[in-house]
Amino acid sequence: MTHEIHHPVRVAIVGVGNVGASFAFSLLNSGLATEIVLIDANTARAEGEAMDLNHAVPLSQSTRIWAGSMADTAGALVTVITAGSAQKPGETRLDLAGRNVNILRALIPDVVKFNPDGIILIAANPVDILTYAAIKISGFPSNQLFGSGTILDTARFRYLLSQHFGVDPRSVHGYIIGEHGDSEVPVWSLANIAGMRLPVFCQQNNLACQDQVLDDIFQQTRDAAYQIIQRKGATYYAIAVGLTKIAEAIIRDQNTVLSVSSLIDDYYGMQDVCFSLPSVVDRGGVERILRLELSERELTGLQNSAAMLKQMNKNLGL
Ligand SMILES: NC(=O)c1ccc[n+]([C@@H]2O[C@H](COP(=O)([O-])OP(=O)(O)OC[C@H]3O[C@@H](n4cnc5c(N)ncnc54)[C@H](O)[C@@H]3O)[C@@H](O)[C@H]2O)c1
Repeated sequence: MTHEIHHPVRVAIVGVGNVGASFAFSLLNSGLATEIVLIDANTARAEGEAMDLNHAVPLSQSTRIWAGSMADTAGALVTVITAGSAQKPGETRLDLAGRNVNILRALIPDVVKFNPDGIILIAANPVDILTYAAIKISGFPSNQLFGSGTILDTARFRYLLSQHFGVDPRSVHGYIIGEHGDSEVPVWSLANIAGMRLPVFCQQNNLACQDQVLDDIFQQTRDAAYQIIQRKGATYYAIAVGLTKIAEAIIRDQNTVLSVSSLIDDYYGMQDVCFSLPSVVDRGGVERILRLELSERELTGLQNSAAMLKQMNKNLGL
């Protein structure tokens, strides 16, 4: 009789700053991982976070947490890369690109060496550029390496819509696609509550639905990071929960539809660039990208976003 060997569910987090540490905290409380390894160039920081998180274990979920090295990515189901500089006030995500691509050049070859079969999930910004760079550096197939993309923007969008429409954000369905950043696109034509298109919902509930009202909601979505950074210096809780949702889809093989950034191959003629579209995520990573039927305006917006990202990849020599 053959015995199946069960390995512990290991998640590796490379970069344990605001985002990495918040993700570790969220993941610990989710109980999804049996092992969480924290890796940071600042080893004292990683050690401190591991100690603090371990002291929560008796009160939370049974999880082995330690500060490790890149060799500890071995066997991880997913390695999440948050290492990189954060956006500074007034700085766009694209300004960060060169600096953070160089960090990937140092880190990714080690993940490939120690963990050739695990998934790599990029969260550092600019996430679409870094995902593309990491695919090139790793040589991984595109299902196995992807970015958190607009998972956060989509959550912000749903929250802001929920405030206007007076329903639970989890009951509002809508997606932000394209770049995680200034050129992102709201898919208004498919947004809905209980399958009802927003104009119908507005009409029946006596709510304002003019272009200007909706545009304002989108602008708040798109500019949320700038607003938060101005007030508290960085954003991390919502992305941490977003990363936990992605990890959950992978660990539990859920086929969850999430707006994540992956390599696009012939989507309305767009290709060889990474950006976000609703995608089915399972144990193998991005199982497939959904082909939304977009309005003409949404498609033009997406094409602009793709062209901008492609130019950026080119400027960086990727
Ligand atoms: N995808 C999203 O939606 C989203 C949301 C928020 C922030 N971010 C991005 O996440 C990244 C991290 O943000 P943060 O606020 O946690 O920054 P932070 O400065 O608090 O943490 C970054 C960490 O990376 C570490 N680091 C840097 N170079 C490293 C290397 N070569 N190897 C290992 N560790 C290294 C640093 O020591 C630091 O601890 C940024 O790029 C930020 O823009 C993404």
